[in-house]
Amino acid sequence: MKILAIQSGIFGDNSNSTKLVAQIATQMKQLHPDAELTHRDLTAQPLPYFDAELAVALSTPAAEQSEAQAALASLSSQLVDEVKNADILIIGVPMYNFGIPAQLKSWIDLICRAGLTFNYTATGPVGLLADRPVYIAAARGGMHEGKPSDSQTPFIKTVLGFLGLHDVRIVYAEGLAMGDDAKTESLQRFTKNLTALV
Ligand SMILES: Cc1cc2nc3c(=O)[nH]c(=O)nc-3n(C[C@H](O)[C@H](O)[C@H](O)COP(=O)(O)O)c2cc1C
Repeated sequence: MKILAIQSGIFGDNSNSTKLVAQIATQMKQLHPDAELTHRDLTAQPLPYFDAELAVALSTPAAEQSEAQAALASLSSQLVDEVKNADILIIGVPMYNFGIPAQLKSWIDLICRAGLTFNYTATGPVGLLADRPVYIAAARGGMHEGKPSDSQTPFIKTVLGFLGLHDVRIVYAEGLAMGDDAKTESLQRFTKNLTALV
């Protein structure tokens, strides 16, 4: 049993989303005491942004890649392997300016690899990753669940589903910037909902 915990809060260990990732990981470890827990901190170890250089590198056949392109493809393969090797994924998704952190978007851009994590076929796209539970810690200052302002949830579900990951379990911590009482209540609700899910 392997657990991969991915955090993208820009305030490191002080990020609410990162603390919630740790809380989910602790709960998973209680359930699976022998599980091996691996962390990927997208803020401490930033990934390159998706640009033409990266897009071309990922679509160039290995035999034709330059040294720089091979290094980018190898980084992408390493991230994909981390996902493939994990039985459970935990992803911290803080909301910044109504979207996911750029650091997390870079990770997604690097794991979306034609021929490796998805294929387009005559009947549409096919995800190549075996399904497994993905726990999402969605931390927000305001209240967005189920509203048009929640651009994160549909995007995360769509892109992970596109890769074959359909078992996405989102646990919300909303209203974290709406005062101390609201924050306390929100974190209690998060714990309750997580426990119910697990
Ligand atoms: C730069 C910045 C932008 C933010 N934008 C939003 C936003 O658009 N909507 C919202 O509900 N909360 C917003 N927040 C509040 C965060 O979602 C909240 O602090 C939450 O705890 C997630 O961030 P964290 O994991 O870094 O703590 C923002 C916070 C920061 C620092």
